[in-house]
Amino acid sequence: MLPTINSLARWAGATVALTALSASLASAQTTGKLKVGFMLPYTGTFASLGTAIENGFRQHVTELGGKIAGREVEYFKVDDESEPSKATDNVNKLIKRDQVDVLIGTVHSGVAMAMAKAAKESGTLLIVPNAGADAVTGAMCASNIFRSSFSNWQPGYAMGEVMAKKGIKKVVTITWKYAAGDESVKGFKESFEKGGGTVVKELSLPFPNVEFQGLLTEIAATKPDAVFTFFAGGGAVKFVKDYAAAGLKGTIPLYGSGFLTDGNLDAEGAAADGLFTALHYADSLNTKRDNAFRLNYAKTFRMQPDVYAVQGYDAAQMLAIGLNATKGDATKSADISAALRKATIDSPRGPFTISAAHNPVQDFYLRQSSAKEKENKVIGIASAKLADPGRGCKM
Ligand code: PHB
Repeated sequence: MLPTINSLARWAGATVALTALSASLASAQTTGKLKVGFMLPYTGTFASLGTAIENGFRQHVTELGGKIAGREVEYFKVDDESEPSKATDNVNKLIKRDQVDVLIGTVHSGVAMAMAKAAKESGTLLIVPNAGADAVTGAMCASNIFRSSFSNWQPGYAMGEVMAKKGIKKVVTITWKYAAGDESVKGFKESFEKGGGTVVKELSLPFPNVEFQGLLTEIAATKPDAVFTFFAGGGAVKFVKDYAAAGLKGTIPLYGSGFLTDGNLDAEGAAADGLFTALHYADSLNTKRDNAFRLNYAKTFRMQPDVYAVQGYDAAQMLAIGLNATKGDATKSADISAALRKATIDSPRGPFTISAAHNPVQDFYLRQSSAKEKENKVIGIASAKLADPGRGCKM
C-alpha cells in the first residue's frame, strides 16, 4: 500500500521529534551536573587512604570553583571496604543506580580489577587514584580507563635498582598475598636480579592479616643482607613496629615501596626512623607547586597530605584536562585519551605524563624517613621518568 500524505506527515513529525530528543540527550552529557562516583575504602586497613584521596580530589575541584568543564560537580559515594567479593555489586550501585559520569576508585588492586571490568563493559569513564594492579593499564587497558597513581611494578622496580646499586646481594621479600604484594615483589625482583642480586625467599600472608611473628622469625633465621616489603595503611604500621620490636631493625635493613611509611609516620614513631623507601612522592620536595598544595590541604582538612591525597588531587586534574577537551562530555573516551596522552600533569609530586596504556610516567624518589621531623625526606631519584611496560595492553 502506498503511504498517504497523512502517514508521511506523521512519520516526518516523529523523525523531527526523535532528532530533538537525541539532541537533548546528547546535550544532557555536556550540561547539567557532572556526577562523580567515589568508590573508596572508608572502613578497614585502608580507610585513611580513601579519605585522603577524596580530600585531594575535592581540593582541586574547589580550586576550579566547584565545576569541571563548566559542569557543577555532584558527588556519590560507596564504601568498598577493600573487599573484592563485593566489588562488582558496589561498582554497579554507582554505574546503574546513580548513573555517574565518572568513577573515581579505588585503593585495593583486587577491587580495582572488578571496577576496570565494569568500566570496560559499560563504557563508564574510570580514573584509578591508587590501586596499582598492573593489568588495569596492561591487559585490561581501555580508552576509558586511566590511572593517576602508579602500577605495582613501578615502585618495586625503582627500589630493586637502588638496592642492586648499593651492592646488596641476598634479599628476603615479605608482603600480603594479593595482586599488589605479588606485583610489587615481581617488579622489585626484575630490576634487583638484573642488577646482580638474588631473592632468596618470598614470604607472604593473606590480606589484610597482620600476624607477622612467624614470618619475622623466619627472616631472622635466614639472615639475608636486607628485606624488601610492600605493606600499606594500618597493616604497614603494625609491620614496621613488629619488625623493630623483633630486634631486626638494627641487624637486617628494611626497604620498601614508600607506602610503608607514607601517611604512617605519626603512628609508626621511632620504629620507622631511618627507613629507605621508593615512591613517586615525598614530604620534602620543597617546590612552589607542592608547598602551595600542602598548605592549602593542611588548612582545609587539618592534617598533612600524603601520596594518596596527591593521587586524588591529580585524578581531578586529569578529569578536568580530559573533559575540557570534550566540552564536558565524559562519554567521548577517545578524545579524553588523546588530550591526556599529550598533556603534562602539573602535579604536586612533580610534572608527569601519561603513557599509551594510560599510566603515569614519573620520577620515583628515594626517601628516608625521619621520626623526629615526621617526614619522608627525598634523598635522591631512585628511577627517573619510569614508565610501566604496559604488558598485554592492546588499545
Ligand atoms: C593496592 O592494592 O594496589 C595498593 C593498596 C595500598 C597501597 C598501594 C597499593 O598503598
